[in-house]
Amino acid sequence: MSFVEYGDTIQDGDTAIVFLGHESMFPVKVQHGTVTQTKYGVIRHSTDLIGKKYGSKVTCSKGGWVFILHPTPELWTMNLPHRTQILYSTDISIITMMLELKPGSIVCESGTGSGSLSHALIRTVAPTGHLYTVEFHQQRAEKAREEFREHRVEHLVTVTNQDVCKNGFGVSDIADAVFLDIPSPWEAIGHAKSALKAEGGRICSFSPCIEQVQRTCLAMEEYGFTEINTLEILLRVYNVLWDT
Ligand SMILES: C[S@@+](CC[C@H](N)C(=O)[O-])C[C@H]1O[C@@H](n2cnc3c(N)ncnc32)[C@H](O)[C@@H]1O
Repeated sequence: MSFVEYGDTIQDGDTAIVFLGHESMFPVKVQHGTVTQTKYGVIRHSTDLIGKKYGSKVTCSKGGWVFILHPTPELWTMNLPHRTQILYSTDISIITMMLELKPGSIVCESGTGSGSLSHALIRTVAPTGHLYTVEFHQQRAEKAREEFREHRVEHLVTVTNQDVCKNGFGVSDIADAVFLDIPSPWEAIGHAKSALKAEGGRICSFSPCIEQVQRTCLAMEEYGFTEINTLEILLRVYNVLWDT
């Protein structure tokens, strides 16, 4: 298993998703000798998980059953341990598209936060691209590194523990795109420009407050960015009924 490559069989050390229903799932680190409690009873990793195919229906000790799913960035976003506010799939999808990311892209991101966006970026740029992600909170940076190792994507990402507004991304002239999700993005626009390739690239900044957006747009203009626009992405779900 890796977050960028499908593995058929559940193995020791994998991160798997225990699916009880669409509103009820959680991630589990598969380990020989470990058990996981669910409302349907216990799952024994050695006998119930390791060696079984992803997607298997596993019967728990009280007779109820769950599905064991292969992890994806989308499932991780729905189930990850929150250390910060995170980005969700609706925003992530438009960010990925508007930054024109594809396999081989080089992306800079700050802050890493809980790694929700990072996992999606890594999957998009794999197998030949790279994510440089900057987080100034030491424990969050270390936890993100640990998760990238556990999810077997560490070769696709560099986590740097520093203040992006003071010290930038640690790279220059290599990025195709830069993404910012920090409280004062306007202070990082100059560093974003230095990180981007000399021929240019794309930048996106995510902010909850319009005052932050205004200051960031102004800074982008001052640093020579063009075609600046501001979007709010709203997802509307319909419950469609039909006769059979
Ligand atoms: C809202 S979270 C990012 C969430 C992330 N986009 C995700 O999807 O999980 C913002 C993160 O930026 C970090 N941060 C804030 N200012 C920063 C700075 N100047 N340099 C680096 N990281 C910063 C915070 O510590 C926090 O972890």
